Amino acid sequence: MNRLELIRAEVDEILLSQPNVKERRDGYVHLYGVAQNCTLLALKRGLDVELCAIIGMLHDIFTYKYQYVKNHAVLGMDEAEQILVKLDVFSKKEIKLLITAIGNHSDKKNKHDKYSEMIKDADVLHNSFYSNTLEIKHHKRLKKILSKFELELKIKAVKNSNDSNIKLDKVAKRPNK
Ligand SMILES: [Fe+2]
Repeated sequence: MNRLELIRAEVDEILLSQPNVKERRDGYVHLYGVAQNCTLLALKRGLDVELCAIIGMLHDIFTYKYQYVKNHAVLGMDEAEQILVKLDVFSKKEIKLLITAIGNHSDKKNKHDKYSEMIKDADVLHNSFYSNTLEIKHHKRLKKILSKFELELKIKAVKNSNDSNIKLDKVAKRPNK
């Protein structure tokens, strides 16, 4: 049984019921895209690949179901738990791990468990790569993630936190030492 596909079927059903075409598209792009980043980070960090991809698919489910952003991470814990329990293919321990990461993912300032940090990083990566711009407010986190892939973010100082026009071509392969 492919549990990731079971989750995707649930997510698809929610997204397909979204009448706004742009929101629906954003939901598909973001949730599927973040889930792939989660897989990459899971492989890099030795985490459970399946669970990481599932966290990615579900992390913003509240936002895309209700079009409501405020506190969506914590509100999404309940939403995700309902889906996970209904499917009846996850252990209690797995559900706790999954919803904990979902609940923590918006708190990018503080540090949590490995799976919470993984989804925060996957989210920042996706938001930064979507339009090739640097998500300034999380530039330190992005810099750290990219350094693990031998990419160096060449930003010395960030003056304006509202400036989202810094292109990612400021990222270059780290020179060999
Ligand atoms: Fe997200």
